[in-house]
Amino acid sequence: MIKKVLYAGSFDPITNGHLDLINRAAKLGDILVVGVIENRSKKPFFTVEERMDMIEKATDHIPNIEVDHFDGLLAHYVKQNNIDVVIRGLRATMDFEYEIQMAQMNARLYNNDVETVFLMTSPDYSFVSSSIVKEVFTLNGDIKGLVPDKVLEYMERKCKK
Ligand code: PNS
Repeated sequence: MIKKVLYAGSFDPITNGHLDLINRAAKLGDILVVGVIENRSKKPFFTVEERMDMIEKATDHIPNIEVDHFDGLLAHYVKQNNIDVVIRGLRATMDFEYEIQMAQMNARLYNNDVETVFLMTSPDYSFVSSSIVKEVFTLNGDIKGLVPDKVLEYMERKCKK
């Protein structure tokens, strides 16, 4: 029934928490689109091309995945790309307030045609976020196991440059 599932985010960079959700979300529909927001105002650490490249490398075992990017409103992307369901991850109650506000605003913008579906993060990754991973990495802490190995190699290469 569900054809196109969208998992959108900053992915700056993709973590193993994101990857866990991607693996699970890919089983829910025919196609899973991972949509990377350009977020120019947020000054991301990685360019949109780098973030997409890391996602493609980390998800090359998933046959029904497409990696794309967008700017502007999520609701516009959803409409223009015939998305059926939008996936979000919930790590803890701290995520809930922001997520319900966003889901309710998006429901209004979608005229209730599209559902936001929440998946609970695996407890192994409930403390993991891109921001905390970047902070630890830039201060020379060990982040092995928190991001896909290919992403860690990518980050090490970028920082050596
Ligand atoms: O990885 P993140 O930062 O949790 O992803 C948040 C994201 C990109 C899904 C959200 O900020 C978003 O949808 N941004 C696009 C702009 C938009 O639609 N804003 C209105 C949200 S109700």
